Amino acid sequence: MGFQVTLRVMGNLAFRRERVNRVDRRVPLVDHAPGMAVARRWGERMRILGLESSCDETAAAVLDADARVLANVISSQIPVHAKYGGVVPELASRNHLLAILPLMSKVLQGSHTPLSEIDAIAVTVGPGLIGSLLIGLQTAKVLAMASDLPLVGVDHVEAHVRAIFLDDPIAFGPAPARPTGPYLALAVSGGHTSLYRVETEVKRGVLHDDCRLLAHTLDDAAGEAFDKVAKLLGLPYPGGVAIDHESENGDPTAFRFPLPLRSPKKHVFSFSGLKTAARLAIEGVGGPLSDGARADLAASFQEAVVGHLVHKTFQVADAHGLTEIVVSGGVAANRRLRSVFAETARRRGLKLFLTPTVYCTDNAAMIAGLGLRRLAQGDCYRGAASRRLDAYANRAFRSGVRRG
Ligand code: KG4
Ligand code: ZN
Repeated sequence: MGFQVTLRVMGNLAFRRERVNRVDRRVPLVDHAPGMAVARRWGERMRILGLESSCDETAAAVLDADARVLANVISSQIPVHAKYGGVVPELASRNHLLAILPLMSKVLQGSHTPLSEIDAIAVTVGPGLIGSLLIGLQTAKVLAMASDLPLVGVDHVEAHVRAIFLDDPIAFGPAPARPTGPYLALAVSGGHTSLYRVETEVKRGVLHDDCRLLAHTLDDAAGEAFDKVAKLLGLPYPGGVAIDHESENGDPTAFRFPLPLRSPKKHVFSFSGLKTAARLAIEGVGGPLSDGARADLAASFQEAVVGHLVHKTFQVADAHGLTEIVVSGGVAANRRLRSVFAETARRRGLKLFLTPTVYCTDNAAMIAGLGLRRLAQGDCYRGAASRRLDAYANRAFRSGVRRG
């Protein structure tokens, strides 16, 4: 099978040493040493491998203890699913199975890290397609058990939110600003459209940054709405990317779509009304769409989705007195979204942190990045205990995940 692999060669986080065995051999660790102090002594030697297989992208990355991305590779299944107009779960699982081991070799080579130099493994455990998640999870369990490494189960959506803390000078530019917290985080992707309040606190030398859900979508996720409307417009999968490009030639004012849920009291998103309005507008044009009408419809729909996301995000920021906003997830790659968020934040005097496009869409660097934080908190599995780590399709089932 041919891979479409992007290889990027390009560091703050800590560990609780009692769960991390391999480093014990390198650094003499003392009981009750604060995680941050331990991490600093590990310096550049520490390496974490991240694996991601929740949907239609198999991905692997190697980071050091400071969340510096040493290598980040992605095998996209877009060509596999494009002819079906969306992700076919069984095909996704089968392709993860084919891709994951070669991809791991690639990322180890790319980061110049032999497997024997990997100190911990982080893997996505949910939410996502169960069959796909299990491929990554089982691969990670086997590796962790065989090499006696700590294993961290990472939540995909929470990882999107923390991608802003990755260290990659090419993607972020030199000396990028980072949120200090508390901050408002928008995670906007194909499966999720949610706003979180993230509080940061250092306890006994270890950073804790818990996400509290403030708003979510009542129906479709923004990416899902993009994908469905793109299909109605006859545009290829993945629809969000296609609408982004199609909109370049369209007039965003050609069709008027109402802004959903304008009330400041309603801290929720909804995209199904916009999707229906788009369908009715397409039907209203009648007959096959001209290139001009298709571009106008794409641009008008994109404007409405972006308008709703921006409106709600800033409304919730105001309501909670939050002045820092992080935007993450696949849809955050949308160029119009990025410019409207930037302009609105500038006008309102709020600090905006846009995740670099390369880390918006699914990747394993963000999984390894959050994995580092979870390790620092001691939230990981060792040895036979990793058998208990399970995958979940929906965040609602996450509470059922047992911890070791
Ligand atoms: O985060 P992601 O890669 O996977 C999920 O966790 O869902 O997000 C995928 C979603 C898809 O719906 C895709 O259409 C959308 O992100 N997307 C975009 C753009 N790039 C990807 N939507 C709008 N504009 C884009 N440039
Ligand atoms: Zn994602």
